[in-house]
Amino acid sequence: MKFIDQVAFITGASGGIGRATTERFLKEGAIVIAADLNAKMLDQLNRDFKPEYENFSTTQLDVSEYNQVQQTIDKTISTLGRLDILVNNAGLSPKSKNWLESDIEEWHNVININLSGEYFCARSAAKQMIKQNQGRIINISSSAWRHGGVAGGGGVSYTSSKAGVIGLTRSLAKSLGMHGITVNAIAPGPTHSPMTTDWLPDREDSLNESIPLGRVGQPKDIANAVCFLASNEASYITGQCLDVNGGLTFS
Ligand SMILES: NC(=O)c1ccc[n+]([C@@H]2O[C@H](COP(=O)([O-])OP(=O)(O)OC[C@H]3O[C@@H](n4cnc5c(N)ncnc54)[C@H](O)[C@@H]3O)[C@@H](O)[C@H]2O)c1
Repeated sequence: MKFIDQVAFITGASGGIGRATTERFLKEGAIVIAADLNAKMLDQLNRDFKPEYENFSTTQLDVSEYNQVQQTIDKTISTLGRLDILVNNAGLSPKSKNWLESDIEEWHNVININLSGEYFCARSAAKQMIKQNQGRIINISSSAWRHGGVAGGGGVSYTSSKAGVIGLTRSLAKSLGMHGITVNAIAPGPTHSPMTTDWLPDREDSLNESIPLGRVGQPKDIANAVCFLASNEASYITGQCLDVNGGLTFS
């Protein structure tokens, strides 16, 4: 097991990719704190994982609220004594059809959750990781940042936020490298999850044809990549964006 006694804090943990990542880290022996806005889904996660994994806990958290993030991560550190891995996975894909007519609040909300949320969590976690002279931060971006995302609608704010995550990743990697902390991003392609249930099944056949590996992603494909970047094997990789999309885009 890769992560025995290591503390991993995972945001958006009750969604599709977050849940698969949580399960993978638990199987690898990590102490996992699963954070999410959705209390009902966190209860479900508790029911599913707690009986098998005693090193598992959940916490309700809105990543777009800096004070809440700071308090939650501080509490994790004071309870468990350390923080080794942060997976910045919480995200929102807005459903509006026309960005020119969408409420301006939508833009703020998407940037606050998808970009500021990752910054807030990284900022709160990095202070402890610097003390430990060790840490891994994995930021979830999206293939949208390469191909421009879904034209129109919520794709504009979403794509902008996910491109911002790449800049954030590179800048944090530069700042934190001297402290033994790596910071990398993962850009998933279209992946089955609650976020994509309203459109992916309808477009799956045509997408499969344009993906060299012939299929869209499953949450565990992304979880595997997160697990690699958090591992010792990835200790000389930082500031990178790993495209996990079956070859849909090439960097
Ligand atoms: N599914 C895809 O095709 C795909 C592709 C590229 C990138 N991504 C990214 O992967 C990540 C995980 O997405 P998913 O596909 O599992 O979607 P999902 O909707 O299943 O999961 C997202 C989770 O984030 C949580 N969340 C939303 N706002 C939050 C907030 N303010 N604070 C805390 N938690 C919050 C939700 O409750 C949900 O559990 C997201 O960042 C998403 O943008 C997904």
